[in-house]
Amino acid sequence: MTRYEEAFEKAKAKFRVSAVKAAEAGIIPYKSENGEWISSPYDGNGWWTGGFWPGLMWQFYAESKEESFLAEARRTERLLTDEFRVFKNLNHDVGFMYLLSCGADDKLTGDPQARTDTLHAASLLMGRLNPAGFIRAWNHPSQAGFAIIDCMMNLSLLFRASRDTGDPRFRNAAVIHADTTLREFLRPDGSVSHIIEFDPADGKRVREHAGQGYTLGSSWSRGQAWGLYGFTLAFMNTGDERYLKAAQRIAAYFVSHIRPDGLTDSDFCQPPEEERVDNMAGAIAACGLLELAKADGGHRWKEAAEKLINGLLDHCADWTENRCGILTRCTASYHDDGAGRHTNITYGDYFLTEALAKLNGTDPMLWL
Ligand code: GLY
Repeated sequence: MTRYEEAFEKAKAKFRVSAVKAAEAGIIPYKSENGEWISSPYDGNGWWTGGFWPGLMWQFYAESKEESFLAEARRTERLLTDEFRVFKNLNHDVGFMYLLSCGADDKLTGDPQARTDTLHAASLLMGRLNPAGFIRAWNHPSQAGFAIIDCMMNLSLLFRASRDTGDPRFRNAAVIHADTTLREFLRPDGSVSHIIEFDPADGKRVREHAGQGYTLGSSWSRGQAWGLYGFTLAFMNTGDERYLKAAQRIAAYFVSHIRPDGLTDSDFCQPPEEERVDNMAGAIAACGLLELAKADGGHRWKEAAEKLINGLLDHCADWTENRCGILTRCTASYHDDGAGRHTNITYGDYFLTEALAKLNGTDPMLWL
């Protein structure tokens, strides 16, 4: 058994037990505290991270076909589809939420309601397109012109809806947003901005915002990882070489900033004396690098992904059986500790598991 297969087996065993705890509590785990699951501190089940828990369950189900994982995935899928009727909390992150829940259910079981729900989510994302050139990120009235790099991950929901329905509208919307992101977010050194504000009336660039990174113009590492994986997915969805080149540039920038121990700073421009690590960024980037290596045959991307995953397994994996969660030292935002700093957060576990599944050849590729 390889190191990665062994880690996947241990993760499966741990989540088999801790999924029972989540079901008993009736929650969608957001992070663990003192070894116990807690739900999102924001927006209940409408918070953008809700898909990662069912996504984890589908990863384990895809590999093992164990019914308990399917049951837990479906329990939380229902909580997420209930959010269609609440509506007000939903934003561009319906891609994260529904690709990994009903989208995965449709993909792995062919469930017709799951397919309908996935299309419903795609229609919500489509409805956020401002024809002036971008998909609106968030709902606050002051943010009508905000677009963010993270949205590159959500575009797959649109590409998929066009494939499933034969209607090019969804794909066209995704391409409009991806082209704007290519033009406005990618910097000359291969890094990407987190937030760009546009004039919602005409789509003209207004300003950049620092977002979840260290400061204006710095490089929030998770944003780099979203850009890297998101442009790789845009290439996989379209075959457009411009997106592949963007992914390669961001990847080269990210790889040049991996720490010697394989961990990832929360911002690549943070002051050296400030120890802030975001291992979620490393896990997401590893997934993107493994897909990029398949797309362009680049061995160096796979080597970098393994450096990241080995760093996480060597230094930051909590395998204690009676504690929920695995990946430690995850940081949601550089300056705001409310969503978690240097702690276990479920989407870190999701991307670590996805990367292990890719390395082991069992990944069902839930993003497409
Ligand atoms: N997509 C939001 C975040 O990465 O925090």
